[in-house]
Amino acid sequence: MSKSKRIFVCQNCGAIYSKWLGKCSQCNSWNSVVEESIETSIRENLLTDFRFYSLHDVPCEGVERFVTQYQEFNRVLGGGLVPGSFILLGGEPGIGKSTLLLQVALHNPELKCLYVSGEESLSQIKIRSERLGSISNNIYISNETNVDQIIQATLNLKPTVLIVDSIQTVYNPKVEAFTGSLTQIRQCANDLQRLAKENHISVFLIGHITKDGMIAGPKLLEHMVDVVLQFEGDEHYGYRILRTLKNRFGPTNELGIFEMTSNGLREISNPSEILLSHRTQNLSGTAVACTIQGIRPLLVEVQALVSSSAYGNPQRTTTGFDPKRLNMILAVLEKRLGMKVGFQDVFLNITGGLRIDDPALDLGVACSIISSHFDFSIPPYACFTGEIGLTGEIRPVDRLELRVSEAIRIGFKHIYLPLVNLKNLHINHPPDVQFIALEHLKNLLENLQT
Ligand code: TYD
Ligand code: MG
Repeated sequence: MSKSKRIFVCQNCGAIYSKWLGKCSQCNSWNSVVEESIETSIRENLLTDFRFYSLHDVPCEGVERFVTQYQEFNRVLGGGLVPGSFILLGGEPGIGKSTLLLQVALHNPELKCLYVSGEESLSQIKIRSERLGSISNNIYISNETNVDQIIQATLNLKPTVLIVDSIQTVYNPKVEAFTGSLTQIRQCANDLQRLAKENHISVFLIGHITKDGMIAGPKLLEHMVDVVLQFEGDEHYGYRILRTLKNRFGPTNELGIFEMTSNGLREISNPSEILLSHRTQNLSGTAVACTIQGIRPLLVEVQALVSSSAYGNPQRTTTGFDPKRLNMILAVLEKRLGMKVGFQDVFLNITGGLRIDDPALDLGVACSIISSHFDFSIPPYACFTGEIGLTGEIRPVDRLELRVSEAIRIGFKHIYLPLVNLKNLHINHPPDVQFIALEHLKNLLENLQT
């Protein structure tokens, strides 16, 4: 028999209480606790179905991945789509999540796909698919938002892929909570997870996250799904980055780069060239740094502007870089090199709208600040990689060979790297490529000013 249980759920962090509270004691947010009810009958049914197997007897099935037309998409999935995988695609509204999945479905006709959208009408989807170059006749669309109906339709149609756009718009009629609430999201995701696992249908859930992370729905799902992909980028830039935050079938921290055009997303398979193509040369305040995202080396331009502060409180503004890390680098520059940056405004920008948290970027960041502060330009053929320690020492970076090969491939001639790394660097390079090994930030300053 089914029983309905009343609970109180914080819509911010998902904490569950037995009574209403004005302030959530877990995340301290006010007025976020809402009354909801859950059905408890499912648990009773599950108990009758329990079986176990000897690990030895379980057959080892090789995973055959479906390789899509989009190499960048395959890359973030760990080499292709694993049948029956349960995938969450998160991102801010308007970033291009619907476009990405619809485009993958449209351009892979052998992939039978059911696209369920609670966000757009059928005609809107049709207009969008024409804009994206509609190719596949194997894609079915629906506006259904009742999760039971979606599951039934999927079982009837038997697609390879089900796309639910978005998880915040679907509801389970047995759950007495409003659509988009944490209880609904959790229950619907549970139902869809079972559908994926029992029927070998890959299910994509699209989930919105807001800038301040107020709607915690997708965060809550992260432990349930096999793969968490995040689509990000700056609205003002055309570039979009698809990141793997979690992957049960492949490496994490993988990265795919796309560009949003008027006909949908275009893959960028040579990101370093693209990111550096608009480079401002012979101007102070810019430096090229070599970073690694996932398994891919990437050259990015770092821009800094150091200027006298108009007010007592100097500003520190960063785009694409951790502000705390910037403060640390500024403190090291002040203390170890005697640069008077403490009372100056510092603006730092990673161009192309990328967000990077690789410590090896430190040297490039320090260089762009030094260049802006002393107002001299860094030679266009110089490239930097290295982590900065608190004493100003240049610490080793991982996978240096990969970084250096990429820099050489793009045509950089002076590669500044940590001295400690140099001993282990075995790489064939053209005679005009020079490695400048640094032990301390002081060496950097000496080298740059000569
Ligand atoms: P959308 O996929 O609807 O975003 P999300 O599902 O993440 O909310 O993408 C919306 C944005 O993408 C919108 O601002 C318009 C832009 N866009 C293009 O620039 N070109 C295109 O071909 C398409 C389909 C969308
Ligand atoms: Mg959308």
